[in-house]
Amino acid sequence: MADVTISLIGNGPIMVEGPVTLLDADDNPIELEEGKAFFLCRCGQSSEKPFCDGTHKVCGYLSANIASIPNASSAGSEG
Ligand code: FES
Repeated sequence: MADVTISLIGNGPIMVEGPVTLLDADDNPIELEEGKAFFLCRCGQSSEKPFCDGTHKVCGYLSANIASIPNASSAGSEG
């Protein structure tokens, strides 16, 4: 199975690296450049949605990028 990496960019988009299929709201595939990472907008201001167009840099978007760590007492208790 091929590896896919999804990274939250600080105060910016979501970077996706690896072979994936990206579908629009009607389940139509969105054409992607093979072997090239792409960036999904998460500030909501891009004019090229779902892709980032750099607008996050001027719209004041701030993100929280630190993953929460499961509570040690409940980790692994689901099964
Ligand atoms: S995250 Fe870059 S334009 Fe929205």
